[in-house]
Amino acid sequence: MTDPASTGRSLALAAVLCLWAARALGDPRAIDLGQALFNTEWLPAGVASEGRSSSPGTGGLGPLFNIASCAGCHPGVENGHGPAGDGLIPLSLEIQLGSIDPNSNGDPVYGRIFNTAAVPGLRAEGRVTVRYGEIYGYYYPDGTRWSIRVPHYELTELSHGPLLGTTVIKPRVAPPLFGTGLLELVAEAAISNPGRGERGAPVGVAAWHVSQGVRSLGRFGWQADALTIRDQTTRAMAREMGLTSVLQPHDDCTPAETDCYRQPGGVSPEVSEQQVDVLVAYVRSLAVPPPTLDDDDEARFGHALFESIGCAACHRLQSPVTPTGDHGRPVSDFIQPYTDLRLHNLGSRMSDETVSGQRLTSLWRTPPLWGLGYRIKSQSQMTYLHDGRARSVEEAILWHGGEAARSRRNFMEMGPQSRRALLRWVENR
Ligand code: HEC
Ligand code: HEC
Repeated sequence: MTDPASTGRSLALAAVLCLWAARALGDPRAIDLGQALFNTEWLPAGVASEGRSSSPGTGGLGPLFNIASCAGCHPGVENGHGPAGDGLIPLSLEIQLGSIDPNSNGDPVYGRIFNTAAVPGLRAEGRVTVRYGEIYGYYYPDGTRWSIRVPHYELTELSHGPLLGTTVIKPRVAPPLFGTGLLELVAEAAISNPGRGERGAPVGVAAWHVSQGVRSLGRFGWQADALTIRDQTTRAMAREMGLTSVLQPHDDCTPAETDCYRQPGGVSPEVSEQQVDVLVAYVRSLAVPPPTLDDDDEARFGHALFESIGCAACHRLQSPVTPTGDHGRPVSDFIQPYTDLRLHNLGSRMSDETVSGQRLTSLWRTPPLWGLGYRIKSQSQMTYLHDGRARSVEEAILWHGGEAARSRRNFMEMGPQSRRALLRWVENR
């Protein structure tokens, strides 16, 4: 159970930090406008609030979408959460659609996101349910029991017939947004060229994307598909909310979805560049809540274990940041997000699958662990990993295979006291 007093304290602290960050990282007026827009429930095209002529208002939602506001998936800017158990999945867990066909983006009929909502008069693409199986095991030296839950997804009530067998089902939980402004400032060289760790340490790969001959580094999303906060924001608007912008002029209706395609559009683009600017300014301004643990002996022990058993090879202890003109200057030359912002193979049990059950080789961006203490204290239902399958930090670690298998084995071979110290330290970042 969450202690309301401590939650109150950390919320107050977070609010103070947000104000500090607002001053350090951007224009306070833009941030306020951005916050309002982040919480706005957009309305379908043609409904009253839409702006007249060339000035967009907050209309243009859909025709297909998942939820009407950013805050709907990113409540209180913490992360969304995965399912509590079997049944319909929560809105902050979405199903993205990929393809193993290199010439295709998503499913030819359903597009890049499985949209579970639609404007009045139109059918949503369907519903998603999950069923969990439980796997049990024992820790090696002391025999304590552990268990992890394995998800199985089902897409039902499909509006336009079956998905293609080669379509990849990609369940993704909305991650926390605080600190993303600082992640944009992590020096590119530190990500692309992290230096050699000890022999045999996992190195992963940088998420390079090439578009129109230009190579850029992906930093955002569970697989670092998005280059910048602006890139991720405009994608979310187009695919999850059906809102077009200059960067993303098309929403997620495909020509095969004739009913959606024929719906009247709003002004184009539906979201103005100024609106995108303030949203990005707001997201960038969100400061990271501080660790929730005093520096006692057990904490120092937990920290030492985090390094010695290999967690810090990927969840790196420090990242150098480069100040840039339009962000203002960060207060330090280093930040501690506990990520190398590189992609790693965590083994086939963590991979995405196609509709016909073929497993892919999936690479995951090391997620930041900062703010974990705050998230655990302020969220009633905390889940971990890209699809929220893990119910605790311990379960998240037990899913680490592939490049991270050695550090998981080290964790399983530790005694209960060491395990407790490590978990306590991680759970209070
Ligand atoms: C339907 C749920 C949903 C909505 C609505 C949504 N997001 Fe997200 N958001 C996600 C998911 C899921 C991811 C992870 C995407 C991925 O891994 O590809 C994400 C990722 C992000 C990230 C990157 C965070 C990181 O550390 O990687 C940012 C920034 C973001 N969203 C901002 C926004 C903004 C701004 C809006 C409103 C315009 C918005 N989101 C609307 C679900 C949502
Ligand atoms: C090879 C690189 C690597 C190593 C080593 C590694 N991790 Fe991870 N970690 C990841 C990646 C990648 C993910 C995200 C997996 C996913 O998206 O499902 C992750 C996810 C997590 C999460 C869940 C975070 C969240 O927000 O859902 C926690 C907690 C975590 N790791 C802790 C640890 C600890 C503790 C260790 C050491 C025992 C460790 N990791 C070792 C790469 C690594």
